[in-house]
Formats: sequence, structure tokens, C-alpha cells
Amino acid sequence: MKSFVKDMNLAPQGRMNIEIARAQMGALEKIRARYAKEKPFRGQRIGMALHVTKETANLVHALVEGGAQVAIAGCNPLSTQDDVAAALVSDDVQVFAYKGETTQDYYKFLNAVLDFSPHATIDDGCDLVSLVHTERKELLNQLIVGTEETTTGVIRLRAMEKDKALKVPVIAVNDNLTKHLFDNYYGTGQSTLDGILRATNILFAGKTVTIAGYGDCGKGVANRARGLGAHVIVTEVDPVRALQAHADGFETMPMSDAVPRTDLFITVTGNKHVLRMEHFSKMKDGAILANSGHFNIEIDVDALEKAARSKKRVRWQLDEYLLNGKKIYLCGEGRLVNLAVAEGHPSEVMDLSFCGQALALEYGIKNKGKLSPAVHVLPAEVDANIAKLKLDSLGLSTDVLTPEQIKYLASWQEGT
Ligand code: NAI
Repeated sequence: MKSFVKDMNLAPQGRMNIEIARAQMGALEKIRARYAKEKPFRGQRIGMALHVTKETANLVHALVEGGAQVAIAGCNPLSTQDDVAAALVSDDVQVFAYKGETTQDYYKFLNAVLDFSPHATIDDGCDLVSLVHTERKELLNQLIVGTEETTTGVIRLRAMEKDKALKVPVIAVNDNLTKHLFDNYYGTGQSTLDGILRATNILFAGKTVTIAGYGDCGKGVANRARGLGAHVIVTEVDPVRALQAHADGFETMPMSDAVPRTDLFITVTGNKHVLRMEHFSKMKDGAILANSGHFNIEIDVDALEKAARSKKRVRWQLDEYLLNGKKIYLCGEGRLVNLAVAEGHPSEVMDLSFCGQALALEYGIKNKGKLSPAVHVLPAEVDANIAKLKLDSLGLSTDVLTPEQIKYLASWQEGT
């Protein structure tokens, strides 16, 4: 199979969307210009499982400019932008993705990317690397490095490392400061609400919105929901994060207490069954559920399906369940709502994340054979470099330490 996309006639629209994103991705553009000269990926095959969006297309273009051959599948059955997928095929990239993939196709496509025999992988959620370690072990020998985009993928990789199951070096791009402090916070913060608005068109002002999880993503979502006038409740299992939420001015309580008061629930924990039957049965009539965590298990949709008297698709990506005579609405089938219902993060933040991906791949390939089979983080200079590229592209700059200040910061003798 060379490629599998929905409709090649969508390619012209996809190309325009990719160009629009490119205009906001000035830092990646600078890396791309360097790659065009240096060709750091000459002769390398890169297999990707990332959301197939207009921003990802710009990452693919940068890698191709650097000499790579690329094959890509989606990393979520609902997140592919079909026009972008078609445009990438016309750029001679192998693409296996369409919006609304069956689970069977999802895994068939990941395997198609692995059939391309990659030297390096880029994952968002660790599905490719996990497949290589379970069903496609023959690829382990030639795999130089993997990179991982998201918190959930990094958690899975660290679990593999702990079990001594990880056999290749993988770079946790999510751990770059220029990734999680921007993508997770500003990106998820804005695009999660964008997805919910596209599914429901509700007014946030005056609603009680409960957000499960106060990590980088949850903080972003909570602040944006407050910005739109919602009354925000945060649920947490980590006492420090719960205290942070309290100090940031949000109500903090267990989910069971929040349920009867909540109009809209948003899960963003990276955990499973955060909303489950004991909660569904006590929800208000008309409650809305949305998930922005990586996998579709944060809301126990299976339990809701089984218990509901009926289910009806009432709008694009909005399902109405009838449970105990009350209506409960689920956005985007419980899959990450910003990508299933909207277009994912704005290009400006993906610029930073994908600079991290490009530089992580370059670092891993340059250090071929030198990195242990473990989860690695990039050196701090790489983060500083990405931030600088972005500031440059925005026409911004920082102050510079004076020689006296450099000396002072490196000394201990000078006190009060
Ligand atoms: P994080 O680890 O910084 O925060 C998650 C928080 O959820 C933690 O504070 C944890 O204590 C809390 N938590 C865990 N179980 C909980 C429970 N049962 N109830 C309440 N709180 C609970 O993770 P981060 O970076 O905020 O990511 C969260 C999820 O979002 C991950 O699955 C990540 O992969 C995903 N993600 C999604 C994006 C999107 O585009 N929608 C973008 C970036 C990350």
C-alpha cells in the first residue's frame, strides 16, 4: 500500500491550509531553511504517527527538505484533516490516514508506516514504538531513535523503561519547556474550548464547568474557561496541584461533589474512567461531557453506552444519551475534543512543539549509537534555541547579561 487517504480532490484546499499554517510557524521555517542546506536526514526513512493536521504537514515538509523520506499515519482515529492528508500525498509523502478511521484501519495504517522500515519514529501517544516492541520486533535493530510528543506517550515510555522493555532511545519532546509550557497550556487551553464550542455552540458565561486534572493542559483549560465567564471547579488527585488550583482561585473538590452542580465536564488527566457510571447517574439533565486527554478512556463511554436507554447523534460530533430520563451530551465520541471536533492547537504553538520534534530527531540521528535505550530529554540549550528562534521570528529579543552580572551569578562570596 503506497498511501490511503479519503479523497485526492481535497488536495488544493489542503495545500492552502498548510500555507496558512506555515505563515504562523516562523521558527520552524528557520530550521527548514537550515535543513535545506545541511540535509541532516539524507538517506533516513522517518515513520510518523502524529495527528495529520496542517501544522504536522509543515513538520513533514521540513524533514523532507532535510533529505528524509517520510511515511505518516494518524495517531487518533478522528483527528486527520482529510484535505491535508491528500495534499501530503501529492507532495510524494506516504500517507495512511482519514478522519473517522475504524480501529482496524488505525492499526493497519500504523503497520503500513512500519512496513516502510523506518530508521526513526515520531510518535504522539507511543503507539508506533509500542507496536515495534510487541509485534514488529524485526525493526528494532535498525531503529536509531524515536521521539514522543505527548504526556501520555512519555508516561507509557517511562513504564516501558522501568520494566526494562524499552530497547531504543526515545526523546521526550513533551518535556521541552518550549513544548509543555506552550502547547499543553495555551494550545490545549484554547483549542479544547474551540472544540466544545463547535460541537455545542453553548455560552460559557455563567456555566459551571468542572475540569478534571490541573496539569499543564488543565491549567490552560481552566483559565480560558474562566476568561469566558464560566464558574470553574477543578478536581485533582495530587494535593499540590489541588492547592495550586485553590490558590489560583478555583473551587477544588472531589468529582462526586462537583457532579450535581456541573453543566460541562472536561477531562484532561491522562488517566482512565475519571468520569464513570457513579457520576453519570447523578448528572444534571443536559450535562455536557468532553475529553481533551490523549486517549478516549477518560470518560467511560462504554458504560454510558450500555446504561443509556437511547443514543442519538444530534449535531456533528455531538451525541445525546438518555439516562434515567435525563439527557447527557458527549462531544467527539469522548476522543480528544480539540482535534476530533476542531483543528487542534493553533499553528503558533505547534511551531514550538515541532521545532522540538525536528531538533530532537536531528539530535538522535547525530548521536546514533551513543544514546542508551531509555527516555531522554534534550539539553537545555535546545529549549533556549527554540525560544530564540521563535522570538526572532516575532521580531522580539531579550536583554543580555552584563559581564558583571555573569560573574555575580556564578559566585557565592557576595552577600548582603
Ligand atoms: P499532567 O501530568 O501535567 O497533568 C495531569 C493531571 O491530572 C495531574 O495533575 C494528575 O494528578 C491529574 N489526575 C490524574 N488522575 C486524575 C483523576 N482521576 N482525577 C483528577 N485528576 C487526575 O499532564 P498534561 O500535560 O496536562 O496532559 C494531560 C493529558 O492531555 C495527557 O493525556 C496528555 O497526553 C494530553 N494532551 C492532550 C493534548 C491535546 O491536544 N488535547 C495536548 C497535550 C497533552
